Amino acid sequence: MKEKIADLMHKKTGLPKEQILSLIEIPKDSSLGDYAFPCFSLSILLKKNPVEIAKEISSDISSPDFENIQAVGPYLNFFLDRKHLASSVIQKILKERSKYGSSTLGKGKTIVIDLSAPNIAKPFGIGHLRSTIIGNAISNLAKSLGYKTIKINYLGDWGTQFGMLIAGYKKWGKEQELKKNPIKHLQDIYVKANVDESMEQEARDWFRKLEAGDKDALKFWKKFRDLSLKEFNKIYSLLNIKFDVLSGESLYNKKMDATINLLKSKKLIKKDKGAEVVDLNLYGIGVCLIRKSDGATLYATRDITAAIDRYNSYKFDKMIYEVGSEQSLHFKQFFKVLELAGFKWANNCVHVAHGLYLDRDGKKFATRKGKTISMSEILDETIELARREIENRYQDLSKKEIESRAKSIALSAILYGDLKNYRMNDIIFDIERFLSFEGDTGPYLLYTFARARNILRKAKYKPSSKIEFSDLSDLEKRIVFALSQFPSVVENSYMQYSPNLIANYSFQLAQLFNEFYHKEKVIGAENEHFRLSLVDSFSQVLKNALSLLNISVIERM
Ligand code: ARG
Repeated sequence: MKEKIADLMHKKTGLPKEQILSLIEIPKDSSLGDYAFPCFSLSILLKKNPVEIAKEISSDISSPDFENIQAVGPYLNFFLDRKHLASSVIQKILKERSKYGSSTLGKGKTIVIDLSAPNIAKPFGIGHLRSTIIGNAISNLAKSLGYKTIKINYLGDWGTQFGMLIAGYKKWGKEQELKKNPIKHLQDIYVKANVDESMEQEARDWFRKLEAGDKDALKFWKKFRDLSLKEFNKIYSLLNIKFDVLSGESLYNKKMDATINLLKSKKLIKKDKGAEVVDLNLYGIGVCLIRKSDGATLYATRDITAAIDRYNSYKFDKMIYEVGSEQSLHFKQFFKVLELAGFKWANNCVHVAHGLYLDRDGKKFATRKGKTISMSEILDETIELARREIENRYQDLSKKEIESRAKSIALSAILYGDLKNYRMNDIIFDIERFLSFEGDTGPYLLYTFARARNILRKAKYKPSSKIEFSDLSDLEKRIVFALSQFPSVVENSYMQYSPNLIANYSFQLAQLFNEFYHKEKVIGAENEHFRLSLVDSFSQVLKNALSLLNISVIERM
């Protein structure tokens, strides 16, 4: 609709469309219209008072999309013609189906998204879960807006800790335990080695060997990496998430010297007690450590190298790092180093941060009974809880059906439980609440979808392109308007890297629909076919919205 206003106003005033689009507002008070255009910027252009301009334009403008275009002070208020809107929006949704909401805004542009990025030999953390879920949703949003997206899983698979792990494994490692529960075994070894001072030298030697490409060292490293990855893949497959590129810090080991030489040639490197650093104090962000005094490179050195390599490979228009907010200084620092090194694209790198998961007592969610919880255990438990709920509700379902519904419901609970929150907020990880069939939850949305589909099945509804009705009820008008907003919600959600806008939209839409369901008759109503088309459109839009969050709907629940 904003587009339509931009067209109209452009024809009337000659103001560029882009500028008009950026000026259109949505009034808080709906008695001031569905959209409003402030005429201040026109007053500079036309050298007239904005109140007069609004008045003049309003007396000489009309369009079938709008019931009324009114001047109120310096504003032009646009009132949509709800009937016209109803038929055009429903027709559009039923024609475009799963494409409704998508656009070509990002055509020809490439977005790289760095997401998930768990660390080898360590448990897949809850922060990695957030990064995976949010990063993936942002990628879905970008994709639906026509951008080319490249999702990179950048494993934490390099660093001095691997020296410690190899040294520890040599001493205490057991092949069988490694096979049985690789991450636990490696973690135990790591903890043990870390408190043992006699291991320090050995660990350093092993890491040096690893960096030098020693065969033996590499063999251990690869084994740890493969086994860890196998564990992580279980989680990705449960979440239905795939990556375009499996990368890792290790990939850049051989390219570090080139990076350091480049920084030296730009005169950015300073010696500091034997270490090499880039001093960023001028920018209030400390110093970025590039090489330790023992010669070892660091997380930042690898990120700088990886970023340059990615730019060379993909010529991205934007690179998004979805990583916890506790790493914000790290990103500020290495983006600055890239900028100082003369890479203009450094300004197109963004750290899209997220907050923490807390437990029900508001404490950082990390350990339970002193043990680290494994992410796949949490996912499995959630599916189990969902299964029990379904078995209680329906006694006559086949095993297979129960299994598949339980999985969808559990997934919706976890994905939605996270994504409904603004990503920077800390959230309380409360799986029972996430799984509730009532309230602002994933299962509630699936339930509402299934309810809509049920009506369509019962009515033996056949879609048609003729959308006819005599009048619209207030609720129908509100649903139609909400449906018409979907494309702009997708756009905003991506622009602000905030999948919660899609989640919150889905919930509001579902609530509207449920109100409609309880108050108004569909089957047997005078305008039954119109109402069925509305139900069809609603279920299509909810499905499209949820699929952006990686939640798949189910026909029956
Ligand atoms: N592996 C890191 C960690 O777990 C996250 C990496 C994020 N991506 C990046 N390019 N630094 O903390």
